[in-house]
Amino acid sequence: MSLDITTLVERYHTPLYVYDFNNITKRYEELKDAFGGKKSLVAYAVKSNSNLAVIRHLANLGAGADCVSIGEVRRALKAGVKKYKIIFSGVGKKDSEIREALQENILLINLESEAEMKRVEMIAKELNVEARISIRVNPNVDPKTHPYISTGLHENKFGVSLESAKRMYIYAKKSKYLNPVGIHFHIGSQLTELSPITEACGIVADLVRSLDAIGIEIKFFDVGGGLGVTYENETTIRPVDYAKAILSQIKGLDVTILSEPGRYMMANSGIFLTKVLYEKVNGDKRFVIVDGAMNDLLRPSLYSAYHKIEAVQKEGEASLADVVGPVCESGDFLGKDVELPIMNHNDILVVHSAGAYGFTMSSNYNTRGRAAEVAILDGKDYLIRERETFEDQIRLEESCDTSWQN
Ligand code: LLP
Repeated sequence: MSLDITTLVERYHTPLYVYDFNNITKRYEELKDAFGGKKSLVAYAVKSNSNLAVIRHLANLGAGADCVSIGEVRRALKAGVKKYKIIFSGVGKKDSEIREALQENILLINLESEAEMKRVEMIAKELNVEARISIRVNPNVDPKTHPYISTGLHENKFGVSLESAKRMYIYAKKSKYLNPVGIHFHIGSQLTELSPITEACGIVADLVRSLDAIGIEIKFFDVGGGLGVTYENETTIRPVDYAKAILSQIKGLDVTILSEPGRYMMANSGIFLTKVLYEKVNGDKRFVIVDGAMNDLLRPSLYSAYHKIEAVQKEGEASLADVVGPVCESGDFLGKDVELPIMNHNDILVVHSAGAYGFTMSSNYNTRGRAAEVAILDGKDYLIRERETFEDQIRLEESCDTSWQN
């Protein structure tokens, strides 16, 4: 990212998220190109970073959107993603969400249980439309990633077994209000090994073949998201190898390949900037206290996730310190045992790989306003989300009638 961090901090203050839009383009194109001439759609996982400007940028490049709430579907539509490129997934969709998705006529509603299929059928009947559906299959494959972000084992809450999927397809095929055109799986996130993906693809492709044999024709083969990125020193899967592995398993099938990458697109397209407030030492332990916290970037606290942290001003001898925020929790840290020089008030720290699941998982805990977000495109900076104010935070409380308290 060619930018002057000090200038950005002067202009927009901290804590601040900064995204490199040129890098987003590069990541999108690498993945899209990896599928070569094959029919494919990259449906960006909006949950990883749902800023409208990010979605709009990807929509302009031709991307679709993978959404897990009607709010995300609305964001995608607002940002200009074509209806026929939007997928609505998630284990627990409300009737109102299903209704709106059907009325919007998006590409696919992804089903995660038999009970959900019945509700979609009922609502489609009410609206007198035919719901295009796909079914999320749980192929029971170990994705070899962090248990919190592993989703493809039977012990996880996601999807249905191969047997129930088959039953569901047979039911859906007979229904006047359901059109089973897709199949979906997503075995986990931050995948750094190809073999679980290949295995899952093989299992699901076999199911597609057996459905074909009974007259159920699957047109969309959705491999989910999950491509890992380098946070520290992880070796990652190259998009060409990823595509090759998928294509090797679906030979002979006439399907459009859908993929739902989030982290791959955004993690290393973003950084989080925070300013040093104080240094202190408790016993032998050195702490660098900064103005960014777990409410801004939850991944270190929630998953013990590693994010590389670097000082912008690097003079002086370095020693180890925990980088912690002002939130009242011992779990509020951005990094442990980070090598840093002596830091002064207002020195800036860069937290790397923060573009995915950073801002979207932020909260107002401790009545802290959410950070501002900035885009960098061709060397120019643009504010894409204002810093949240105190007034923004209390608006929905102030609008209530509390005269009963006077
Ligand atoms: N598709 C489905 C159905 C998903 O559940 C997910 C992520 C994705 C696509 C996108 O996966 P990606 O390409 O980003 O790996 N908050 C966690 C990650 C949770 C991922 C949940 N599902 C984190 O910060 O690591």
